[in-house]
Amino acid sequence: MPTIRFDGERIECEDGRNLLRALPRGALSSATPVSLCGNGVCGMCAVTVEGETNELTEAERNRLSEPCEDSPCEGGDGNGDGDETDVDRSRRRLACQTEVHGDLEVTMDE
Ligand code: FES
Repeated sequence: MPTIRFDGERIECEDGRNLLRALPRGALSSATPVSLCGNGVCGMCAVTVEGETNELTEAERNRLSEPCEDSPCEGGDGNGDGDETDVDRSRRRLACQTEVHGDLEVTMDE
């Protein structure tokens, strides 16, 4: 059973569980007091994830490639040259689009 480390907590969940649903209720919305769309559009559930997950979804590719002034998602340079921006970008996920497939370390931007 995978374990998610988030905000000082260790959360166990089933393999394949949606990350947003696995996190404590309100964990992301308390930091960003808006409604979460749950379908990869608003970008408010953007987190940094290390560990085993599904591949980026089309919705994530689209949303995370856009500059976001009003939400925590950030577009990187996305040029695939392997620099630090690309590495950080590769770990950026939308929790609502992420499936947990192993132990994860999840962090939010402050
Ligand atoms: S909840 Fe809106 S993009 Fe994930």
